[in-house]
Amino acid sequence: MSRTPRSRTAKSRRYLMCRPTHFEVAYAINPWMDPSKPVDRELAVTQWEVLADLFKSLGHQVEQISPLPGCPDMVYAANGATVIDNRVLGARFRNPERAAEGPAYLEWFRAEGYRQTLEPTHVNEGEGDLLVTDTCVLAGTGFRSAHEAHAEAQEFFGRPVVSLTLVDPHFYHLDTALTVLDGDEIMYFPEAFSAGSRAVLERLFPDAVLVSRADAEVFGLNSVSDGLHVVMPQTAAALAARLRARGFEPIGVDLSELRKGGGSVKCCTLELRD
Ligand code: ARG
Repeated sequence: MSRTPRSRTAKSRRYLMCRPTHFEVAYAINPWMDPSKPVDRELAVTQWEVLADLFKSLGHQVEQISPLPGCPDMVYAANGATVIDNRVLGARFRNPERAAEGPAYLEWFRAEGYRQTLEPTHVNEGEGDLLVTDTCVLAGTGFRSAHEAHAEAQEFFGRPVVSLTLVDPHFYHLDTALTVLDGDEIMYFPEAFSAGSRAVLERLFPDAVLVSRADAEVFGLNSVSDGLHVVMPQTAAALAARLRARGFEPIGVDLSELRKGGGSVKCCTLELRD
């Protein structure tokens, strides 16, 4: 049975991105990373530029932070901070390999004139684990961000934070298992969550799009939505068709090289909500 799709509107956004100038897979801190497999950095840069140009062509603003040598994962800008209403919660990384990125991103915000910034006490990996809906912040824990970071985020932003526990190491950040599509409309892969967290999601989001393992494994949930266009890995074709039926306009992109680091569209994109 087909419903008439809802009409959707795009809202113009501001994103922060980091060119993969120094990208490589030199260490493995998630199950997707294999340092013995070759990475084509030049191709990574080209694919990243296509993504940045696509955002601009959709009417979004793209800001850039300078990539630091020795920080191959800095391209995953989503992890660099969380920004709501001009307030910037800095990131603190779990793995020493990424530790330098937290202060580098916070410095960018301070240099840009953001006044309300917080260097966090607890480990949080930015929008990798903190996803903002209209009514709350969904917060992941289990692999990277510490549970204590959720209370820290709630206190700083003054928004209710809902803790969700991730249980499958392939979906180590919340943004690999759940996407905010629009307002309080989300999609997620249920098996990535503990039973209790799954029950919480069912209670809060009864209309959510439930995503299959196949679509989640090709990083279909690592997508960026502006309320109409859903920019996503082109490999998540089945999921794209389902989103189209709900009135969204999915746009597939090829990020094969950055995928080797365990990330895709959303990982490369930090939303500046200011
Ligand atoms: N190699 C990076 C890491 O494991 C990938 C980060 C992906 N970013 C994300 N927002 N999920 O930390």
